[in-house]
Amino acid sequence: MKKTITLTINGELRSVDVEPNDILIYVLRDKLGVKSPKIGCERGDCGTCTILLNGEPVRSCLILAIEMDGQEITTVEGLSEDGLTPLQEKFVEHNSFQCGFCAPGMTLTATKFLEKNPHPTREEVQEAIAGNLCRCTGYKQIIEAILDVSNKLN
Ligand code: FES
Ligand code: FES
Repeated sequence: MKKTITLTINGELRSVDVEPNDILIYVLRDKLGVKSPKIGCERGDCGTCTILLNGEPVRSCLILAIEMDGQEITTVEGLSEDGLTPLQEKFVEHNSFQCGFCAPGMTLTATKFLEKNPHPTREEVQEAIAGNLCRCTGYKQIIEAILDVSNKLN
């Protein structure tokens, strides 16, 4: 049976009708028009569907939308009100992405990681983004952008 849930998405209060088995990524994209989280493996492996749930990165392909009543979700659309964040600027500067499919999830994961560890080592960065797969780049420019914004590029 359908239920109306109300949640905060990128600072805006939104209500939406969901079925008990509706998966969050589909509700975000198809019912709420939030298109940055991407549908990849649909089983928790690739990280393209990553969102911030109450500030923490989670995989929206593994979450039932009906459980999101009253929760707060952030996607890359809501990361900054002033254009690109410093990390996003570094991604651009380093040509970090090619097709860009992994970029939203990677950006959210890296953003939260840098909040907790502002000056990481290369190994710590590699470990932090290990759950966000990129099929195009080999990760080099992604890692260098993250190190650059943390002033650890060497
Ligand atoms: Fe969710 Fe791959 S689509 S982890
Ligand atoms: Fe294409 Fe990462 S840039 S998957």
